[in-house]
Amino acid sequence: MVKIAPSILSADFCRLEEDIARVSSADWLHVDVMDGMFVPNITVGVPVVKSIRAHSDMFLDVHMMVEKPGRYVKAFAQAGADLLTVHLEADMPPALHAALREMEQVGVKKGVALRPITAPEAVIPYLERRLDLVLVMTVEPGFGGQTFMADQLPKIEKLRKLIDAYCPSCELEVDGGVNAETARLCVDAGASVLVAGSAVYGATDPGAAITALRGG
Ligand code: DX5
Ligand code: ZN
Repeated sequence: MVKIAPSILSADFCRLEEDIARVSSADWLHVDVMDGMFVPNITVGVPVVKSIRAHSDMFLDVHMMVEKPGRYVKAFAQAGADLLTVHLEADMPPALHAALREMEQVGVKKGVALRPITAPEAVIPYLERRLDLVLVMTVEPGFGGQTFMADQLPKIEKLRKLIDAYCPSCELEVDGGVNAETARLCVDAGASVLVAGSAVYGATDPGAAITALRGG
């Protein structure tokens, strides 16, 4: 069954504990880290992950929209992240490979993310080293509440084929503009994890929204 990862970017940061409790029926919690350089927005960082870890047992899926993300692998791992995802566009390949190696050393799961412009084949050298997750952006990273880019669906299909060929245990996560309708398209294309911010936190009943994202 598809995993649902609500993004706390759409939560009320003054009531974060309460808003995390409202999505307890979800599988993972998605934390969007933005540095104001890789993307124009600034969100949360290591101290917030540490605080969430102290109050929640949920699997923490940390999406690093950060330049040179290798600088922060150890800090996020020590703060309690379960999985760290770095963008393929955020550093040169040797530095990204080093960041993934450090994730292995500190014992967190490792993922890579692709902006909409990035070709699916770019993940091959990373898949070969046994990734835990590939994240496909279906909006330009930086902000919640944007419209799903349907032109990314063929890329999701292609990535499903590459994952099945190179590393079948790897999760395929889709992030951006996912709602009950676009969720179906993503799952049909091969997604195994769906991130949803506004579709969950914009709903009066986040639990019901999570059920709808699973397909009812
Ligand atoms: C955008 C973030 C997303 C965002 C998704 O850069 O990576 O995780 O929170 O929000 P929605 O579901 O509202 O598009
Ligand atoms: Zn995200």
